[in-house]
Amino acid sequence: MSTLNVSLGSLQLSSPIMAASGCYGYGLEYADVANPSHLGGFITKSISPERWKGNPPPRLAETEFGLLNSIGLANMGVDAFIQDVLPRITNFDTKVIVSVACKVMEEYELVVRKLEEVEGVDGYELNISCPNVKEGGMAFSQNPKLTEELVSRVRAISNRWITAKLTPNTASIKSACQAAEQGGANALSLINTIVGMAVDYKSRRPKLATLTGGYSGPPIKPVALARVWEGYNAVDIPIVGIGGIVSWQDVVEFFIVGASAVQVGSALYTNPGLPAELNQGLLDYMKSERIDSLSELTGTLKTDQPFQVGAPV
Ligand SMILES: Cc1cc2nc3c(=O)[nH]c(=O)nc-3n(C[C@H](O)[C@H](O)[C@H](O)COP(=O)(O)O)c2cc1C
Repeated sequence: MSTLNVSLGSLQLSSPIMAASGCYGYGLEYADVANPSHLGGFITKSISPERWKGNPPPRLAETEFGLLNSIGLANMGVDAFIQDVLPRITNFDTKVIVSVACKVMEEYELVVRKLEEVEGVDGYELNISCPNVKEGGMAFSQNPKLTEELVSRVRAISNRWITAKLTPNTASIKSACQAAEQGGANALSLINTIVGMAVDYKSRRPKLATLTGGYSGPPIKPVALARVWEGYNAVDIPIVGIGGIVSWQDVVEFFIVGASAVQVGSALYTNPGLPAELNQGLLDYMKSERIDSLSELTGTLKTDQPFQVGAPV
């Protein structure tokens, strides 16, 4: 019997499909249009110690082949989340993973300490792809030492499931993956958005107020697949694949390069019902291929080539 159940270490999911942070609000926003139980879990909008207004508009630009955003992690802050949102999402029949994004390490500890005091949180996704103010704005996960320290500091205050979400904006992701594993992460989330820019040729103006933003959607899938394969070959903890997923075939590809679950982001804006479609497509595929569990596919890429950064020329 084919089952969609997958396991990410200590976290069991009823479907390999999760909703990506920033693309599913706090969970409530989508509950009216699509049943949350079609998801194995969802990642909340990244939460910070206090309310953040985010970046000035325009902060969303559609490009020919993908989406560019500079939302700037606008969110309601941890106290409002605990008081106003959490009690209304804990009865959803799906796992609730809270994304945490902060400017310095002490803030990550503060947010997680507050969340540790309440029930209904199944785990944390540490968004360490965001700029570290103390280190001059460089993303935490661009520095393996900071990555390990941050993950281990959060690990020290929580026994809950923790995944580290890494930036793809580095030459290699291997050392960041290993640092997060060393710090005690239960899983890795690969990848966050890629730095990009959009320009209006007539006005010669940038389409985002911040000039650059995070690129997402189908065009980033090849980058994400390469990063997941690199991560899979570098660590022993499970990997959650993210980037450009719009079909069940995309999900299968992510599993083949090493994912144990996936997140769907930008595609939810145009099709909130996508998770149910992906589940059905995967089940049909598994039945026809006589696959009982998607974990049978993880890391089954057929190649004798060792992973290498950059294409051979
Ligand atoms: C509008 C928008 C807002 C996002 N906000 C967050 C966020 O708050 N935290 C985070 O970790 N990732 C955020 N992301 C990144 C997504 O979670 C995901 O990593 C990325 O979009 C790639 O997946 P996709 O191609 O399926 O969209 C955001 C993406 C978009 C498009």
